[in-house]
Amino acid sequence: MIKKSELYYPTEEFKKNAWVNDPKIYEEAGKDPVKFWEKLAQELFWFKPWKKGFLHKPPYFQWFVGGKINITSNIFERDWEARKNRIALIWEPEPISEESRIFTYAELFKEVCQCANYLKKIGVKKGDRVGIYLPMIPEAVMAMLACARIGAVHIVVFSAFSPDALRVRLQDTEAKVLITADGYYRGGKFIDLLKNAEDGIKETKVKKLVVAQRSGKTPWSFDSAQDKQEEKDFCKAAEMNSEDLQFILYTSGSTGKPKGCMHACGGYTVQSYWTGKWIFDFHENDIFWCTSDLGWVTGHTYTTYSPLLNGITTLMFEGAPNFPTPDRWAQIIEKHGVTVFYTAPTAIRMFESYGEDILKKYRFDKLRLLGSVGEPIDESAWLWYYKNIGKENCPIVDTWWQTETGGILITSLPGVGPFKPAFTGLPFPGVKAEVKDGNLLILPPFAPGLLRGIYKNPKKYLETYWSQYGKEAYFTSDGAIVDENGLIRIIGRVDDVIKVAGHRISTGEMEAAINEHPEITECAVIGVPDRIKGEAPIVFAVYNGAKLSEEIKKEIIGQIQKGIGPIALPKEVYLAEDLPKTRSGKIMRRVLKKLWAKEELGDLSTLANPESVDKIKKILYG
Ligand code: WT7
Repeated sequence: MIKKSELYYPTEEFKKNAWVNDPKIYEEAGKDPVKFWEKLAQELFWFKPWKKGFLHKPPYFQWFVGGKINITSNIFERDWEARKNRIALIWEPEPISEESRIFTYAELFKEVCQCANYLKKIGVKKGDRVGIYLPMIPEAVMAMLACARIGAVHIVVFSAFSPDALRVRLQDTEAKVLITADGYYRGGKFIDLLKNAEDGIKETKVKKLVVAQRSGKTPWSFDSAQDKQEEKDFCKAAEMNSEDLQFILYTSGSTGKPKGCMHACGGYTVQSYWTGKWIFDFHENDIFWCTSDLGWVTGHTYTTYSPLLNGITTLMFEGAPNFPTPDRWAQIIEKHGVTVFYTAPTAIRMFESYGEDILKKYRFDKLRLLGSVGEPIDESAWLWYYKNIGKENCPIVDTWWQTETGGILITSLPGVGPFKPAFTGLPFPGVKAEVKDGNLLILPPFAPGLLRGIYKNPKKYLETYWSQYGKEAYFTSDGAIVDENGLIRIIGRVDDVIKVAGHRISTGEMEAAINEHPEITECAVIGVPDRIKGEAPIVFAVYNGAKLSEEIKKEIIGQIQKGIGPIALPKEVYLAEDLPKTRSGKIMRRVLKKLWAKEELGDLSTLANPESVDKIKKILYG
């Protein structure tokens, strides 16, 4: 790569072989984005072609109206002769002593069909919601695809979420079946997931638990071995309308309750296929490792759907990237010959923190492209990634998107560039974005994969995305700036969402969990900078009771653990007598943030209780 001021470009060799290497694509797509997406969609297999590409009744919109499709037919039936014997999935277990499990497309298809037939047998029908609470094991991918095969709507719940968090999602979607596992390995421990699943289905409509065996000898048990034998190895794909639900995935917003993002079959399939093909430049022999858990949208789109739609190999790893040694992730890249690696800035900063010595024995010579996602990547982490992992030879695509967008919307294309540290790049061809008063907006025709609604909450959908700048602009809740070349830099969330190690956490949701504690009258959670995780939550809780402070702090942490899970654990808990408030009783989180950062507080005349500020200063600074 040639360094031109602070811009980087792909090598000639990379460019030559890339699917896209000419910036003219932006112009072509920009002229008529709908026509452009329609052209792309034609490369996929449709049972029935669509009648209208894009239908817009602001704020509602539809894509490929009247078309019929199934995402799994585009994985297992399109281009089948060429791909059936290729490796679809490589699974790396956490214990070093265990063997990897490897599935060709034909083998994976058989597993998916068996699972799909089993779901049918227990009464799952097209449109039914099915919960998936599985760790990072191949059965998780199989379960997702089995649902998609028969037109059931999966709701994947991150396996580290607590039973309470699982319950909320099962209740909201009224799922009758939950697919889970007896456990998994993480950081050297065997985690009893089944116990959490059994707890989480209490007070829900779940009548049937389907359990994958992680600890036992049978890899995947449908109730009993006998059941499995009865199942057929083929299951016909359900013909889905473009606008039918592909899946629901919950994400955090400003308020206490998570939102179920609704994704549509046609648009999601088109966007996940094409963004993978062009942004990760998927070619036949690629081995792609996206390190995200399947419980997040990154895992949905770039571990499961996109690489498989493209007929390449996707790798999934069960455990912690630094277990049993800090270089486990590097070993995996070498062992399996990973060619494209996609991870979060937090992971990059963690790798960097282990020092350069552990990397000396790794050449990473199969790697040809790197990706970053989930939170802003600072220039120094970018440069470290570029130098030490990419060996100054791999483009870095910094990809901006959200659970709501279904797939990547902003990034530089790897065969085009330029790559600028800390900038994500340009909107994907066919996507229009604008930065207005510092806010990032997506303009019509949006993108085929953008969410169609919030499950059972149309009001929230309108309020969250379509009210700030009217019904014709999708409000992302991200702040951004644009440079002289049009490259976009994401600054961060403008709402009460924080990104902790790339995980999306709502401070409001944390507060709601803490407020469940009978002795905590009120609390405020704010995000503060963290060297490795990017951001971390800290808690201010009002407590005037008699318990020892260490005891009550433990209980507060327990509340978060119970309501959400370990990913939201706070960096610090402070007990206060009182929190700064406006006269109308609103807690001034902004003031707390400034106090924590030791910044100028500015005008405090709107505070109803200015004396609370001095008390908090005492708690923070002693
Ligand atoms: C939020 C969405 C993107 C899929 C996984 C996370 C932040 C995401 C970037 C990036 C800066 C980023 C935004 C966004 N974000 N990618 N490349 N640079 N910030 O999906 O959990 O729904 O989180 O992640 O703040 O709104 P999510």
